[in-house]
Amino acid sequence: MTLNWRAVFEDGRRQLLDAGIEDASLDARLLLQHSGNMEHSRLISLWPDPCPSAVVENYLTAIARRIAGEPVSRIIGQREFLGLDLAISPDVLDPRADTELLVETVLAKARGSKIRFCDIGTGSGAIAVSILKHRPEAECVATDISPAALEMAKRNAEYHGVLDRVEFCLGSYLQPLRGRFDILVSNPPYISRESIAQLAIEVRGHDPLLALDGGSDGLDAYRAILAGAGDVLVKGGSIFLEIGFDQAAAVTSLAEGAGFLQVEVLKDIAGHDRVLSARWPG
Ligand SMILES: C[S@@+](CC[C@H](N)C(=O)[O-])C[C@H]1O[C@@H](n2cnc3c(N)ncnc32)[C@H](O)[C@@H]1O
Repeated sequence: MTLNWRAVFEDGRRQLLDAGIEDASLDARLLLQHSGNMEHSRLISLWPDPCPSAVVENYLTAIARRIAGEPVSRIIGQREFLGLDLAISPDVLDPRADTELLVETVLAKARGSKIRFCDIGTGSGAIAVSILKHRPEAECVATDISPAALEMAKRNAEYHGVLDRVEFCLGSYLQPLRGRFDILVSNPPYISRESIAQLAIEVRGHDPLLALDGGSDGLDAYRAILAGAGDVLVKGGSIFLEIGFDQAAAVTSLAEGAGFLQVEVLKDIAGHDRVLSARWPG
């Protein structure tokens, strides 16, 4: 018996609900749209029509993956970040809404100015690409230690038409940088190694370990970046770092110890410490 699109959607939604998935309706719709390769409005217009068996098969496979703990963004290979569609692969962190505060803070600082910035640990390129998209005169050098992540970031930069203003460099943290920058921005790996096992399956099972593992106390990347940041920033340049909710005191102390001034911590909408900003003297 051939089911219509509405009934196929409902079957998936019910399976997700029974599995305790919170956003069952949204997830089921996004997975059906992906399986049928169509926009929301087209799906609604097809509700009463028979759904092709190949679509049903893809959809039920996607529903099973979701029930096994795979995020929708991983299944469809795409994530929206600050209004931009970004392609993602198993080699990159699934960009988080939390990181939008980091980008918004940089954009507020770089209003109307022609800046040269670096994005350390660029992953999918979420930070670099969204800043370049919103600041058409800005230029960027983006680094990552993962060649596969840099390929994905390059693809996103190309898709969003900013590839001519970004240079992607392979290497550890600041090591590949040449010259000086007005702004250094980074969302580095900052989970302590022992707490990775306690993360939700959506995270520990699907984000690359390289994107999560911040060493034994979660602070290895901050140590490396803050120790060298003064050598790559212009006088009076700024640094913006995403931090874990319980890392404000430790990263503030590292920033001050490295010689940064005006160290400030911003909270996200959930009230958690999320972004540290500071100014290099001069
Ligand atoms: C938390 S993810 C952030 C990705 C992206 N910037 C974002 O916000 O969605 C951290 C990134 O740092 C990269 N990374 C890990 N160790 C690194 C190192 N030693 N040098 C440069 N990048 C590194 C990882 O490959 C990963 O892409």
